[in-house]
Amino acid sequence: MAATRLNPKDLAHFCDGILKLWNIDLRSYGQRQLHRRLRGMMARVGARNLRDFLKRLNNDPELSEQFRNQFTINVSEFFRDAHLFAKLEEMLKPSGACHDAKKIWSAGCSYGAEPYSLAILMHERRPSGKWQILATDIDREALQRAREGIFSERDLRNVSTTRQLRYFDPVGPDSYAINDKLKRRIKFSTLDLLQPHGHQPRYCDIVLCRNVIIYFTPEAKSQVHQLLVEALRPGGLLLIGATERMPDAEDLALETISPFFYQKSAAA
Ligand SMILES: C[S@@+](CC[C@H](N)C(=O)[O-])C[C@H]1O[C@@H](n2cnc3c(N)ncnc32)[C@H](O)[C@@H]1O
Repeated sequence: MAATRLNPKDLAHFCDGILKLWNIDLRSYGQRQLHRRLRGMMARVGARNLRDFLKRLNNDPELSEQFRNQFTINVSEFFRDAHLFAKLEEMLKPSGACHDAKKIWSAGCSYGAEPYSLAILMHERRPSGKWQILATDIDREALQRAREGIFSERDLRNVSTTRQLRYFDPVGPDSYAINDKLKRRIKFSTLDLLQPHGHQPRYCDIVLCRNVIIYFTPEAKSQVHQLLVEALRPGGLLLIGATERMPDAEDLALETISPFFYQKSAAA
């Protein structure tokens, strides 16, 4: 294969082209990771350089869609990092910090395992209570899968047998459909956390944003942190991923109440 060195001028041209094509600003991604992923993608299609790669993406909608999806990486599973969901479950109990949560936002929900996990917890606490989950992602295809609500055995590996029997119906080999009573509780919509254009939820009791911004630059991360905090009501709770950190928590009037759980100041 021809050389795939990423020269800064070509990369800038490529980023401009991708912003037009996918409406994703690659400059917000950590550069080392970006270079590595682009090199891998170019190698797979045998693109000579970034200009050649961009041309092919522009001329081939199927290829473009395929790479766009790979770029946004939507790996997930039910109750991912089960210890954090166990903690959240505690907080939803009558004596817990979020016992009266009504509006929950799963930001970067991928194909739905995260918001449906939340729906299971909420349904167990308050089966007929007033609550709703908003689930957003930049990836339309992932959202379509989420709306369909069909999952594999692997997705369900952290789901207890009791919950599997209660909330899923087998619909084929290695295919399990989530119950409609949970589906009805979730509103899925497209949202780019870096370009929300005012469409982000407001006054949420709980916001989850996990494993979404790990590859973003520090500037893009703090832009998203700000957005997430603005989406919380005073006293609301933010949950981040088990490998993530929030060095700007204090500046954003967030108090760490447990590792990966932050509470917005009641006065903010
Ligand atoms: C690894 S998945 C995380 C799914 C789930 N939160 C979890 O932890 O299992 C990352 C998701 O972030 C989404 N994503 C990436 N960049 C985004 C952006 N700028 N705005 C919104 N979602 C984005 C991807 O499409 C992908 O579905």
